[in-house]
This record gives sequence, C-alpha cells and structure tokens, in this order.
Amino acid sequence: MILLQEAAYGKLNLTLDVLQKREDGYHDLESIMQAVSLRDDIELKLETREPWTLSCDREGIPCTPKNLAWKAAKVFYDSGSFPDEGLSIHIRKRIPTEAGMGGGSADAAAVLRALNRAYGEPYSVEELAALGTEVGSDVPFCVVNGTAFARGRGEKLESLACNAKLHYVICKPDLSFSTPTLFSKLDETPISRRPNHLAVIQALEKGEEQLVAEGLYNVFEEAVRSDYPEILHLKERLLQEGAWGAQMTGSGSVVFGIFPTRQQAQQACESIKAQWTASFVCENI
Ligand code: C5P
Repeated sequence: MILLQEAAYGKLNLTLDVLQKREDGYHDLESIMQAVSLRDDIELKLETREPWTLSCDREGIPCTPKNLAWKAAKVFYDSGSFPDEGLSIHIRKRIPTEAGMGGGSADAAAVLRALNRAYGEPYSVEELAALGTEVGSDVPFCVVNGTAFARGRGEKLESLACNAKLHYVICKPDLSFSTPTLFSKLDETPISRRPNHLAVIQALEKGEEQLVAEGLYNVFEEAVRSDYPEILHLKERLLQEGAWGAQMTGSGSVVFGIFPTRQQAQQACESIKAQWTASFVCENI
C-alpha cells in the first residue's frame, strides 16, 4: 500500500467579472484568484486491492463518485495507462462548503497532484491543470495555486506577482447560493459596475495591501445583496471591525475582509464569532 498526503488550499476571488454566456452554456469570466492558508488535508492510499472508497470527517459531504475528489481520480486514471490497484481517499475538511472558496475543487486538485507525484510526474503542472478542467471550472486554479488572473471558464490562467501579505478574516453565513442560478440572474440583469482588475494586479505586485483591499469587487455580490441583506450586514461588520475592504467570494456565501495586521484580523475574528461562528483567520500563501 502507498500512502500520500496533500494539502488542498481554499481560494478567494479578489475581483470577479462575468462576461458573455457561451454556446456551451458556460460564461466567460475574468477573476483575480488567490490561494489562502485555510486548507483541507487529503490522504490517499493506493494499491488497497479493494474497491475505491472515499471518506470525510465532516458530515454532509457526499462520499460517493459524485465527490469532485473521486471524479478527479477517475479523470486521472482514464487519462493514461496507470495501474488501478485500488484507491481510498480521506478528506479532513476545514474549508467551508457552499462558500465560494472552491473547497471541493481544491480537494480534486490535491488528488490530481498526489496521483501525478505517485506515478512519477507524467504531467506538467499545465497539463494537470488542463485535466482539472474536466472536473470543474475552479480546479485548474487549485492545481496551480498562488495568485492568478483567470479567464475563459476559469481555466485560462496567468500567474501574477504578489508582494502583498494579506490578512484575511473569512466568515461563512448560514446561507448558500446555487452557482448556475446566480449566473442566470446575471444574464437577466445588466451589470452596473465592473472590477478594475489592473489596479488590483498593480497593487499586488507593489505589495500595497490597502489598495488591494480597496479594489475588491465581485459582480455576484450585486446579484445577491438585495435578496440576502445578511451579506451586506456581514460586510459592514467586517469594515466596522477595521477591515480595509470586504467582499463576497465567488458565488458565495463566504464574505471576507482584509485587515492591516494578523493581530487585528484575530481580534476581529473573535468578535465576529459571537454572531457568525464559522469565522476564520488566514493569509495568502
Ligand atoms: O464548472 P463547474 O461545474 O464548477 O460549474 C458549475 C456551473 O456553474 C456550471 O454548470 C455553469 O452553470 C456555471 N458556470 C458558468 N460559467 C463558468 C463556470 C461555471 O456558467 N465559467
């Protein structure tokens, strides 16, 4: 039996813009994505000589072939002549689910990286990211990690220089939104404001954390704010606690704030936990 361990980092969208709907039903988007230290841990066992299994220490996660981590393993084995001698996947979950943090995609990407390592790196990082597209739109970024500008479905990635140290507080309200429904909502309503990616890219490169925070913008937030005032309340609370900027990530429902120091982030997190128990401090990696 071979034992492999791999970290699966969550992601945040610092900017997110949705462009046109495509013929394949997906939307072209533009987003600055960043991997953060809040992570799941994946343990893989190969050569178990048993049917595939998947387990997770958090209830409510599908431990079936529908799980993106399982799908990733299937895509990997289907992509070449790797001997399938049994596989077991265990996920230690910390990333909030239905959150816009790409938790399932991060697990899938970690499985791809671990299997690639186990079989002697047959794929480059770019090739592995391309395989990830078959599993989900956020998987390519989660294979690569770091900070990147994503386009297309999310699979066209350009790595970005990041000299900023960003202290985040991440809060998961007890709400979840359907990603396809939010995309459809944007098809029906004109988008009134769009993010300035370039300003954020330059601030990241120069290490100007406050400017990064001031440039946060996600078009999905507009689409949910009026129906779910809790998103706005949470955002305002993060700002009251001293965040330079705050915003929802992806299609939600996590709202995050960027704080001047780790200590301020920790203090804010403790205070916010009284109302939003699923609150965490993390930073970019
Ligand atoms: O690729 P993924 O399975 O994560 O996407 C979930 C759903 O979100 C898609 O079925 C599609 O409805 C929507 N989506 C989209 N455009 C993207 C990414 C996702 O319309 N770029």
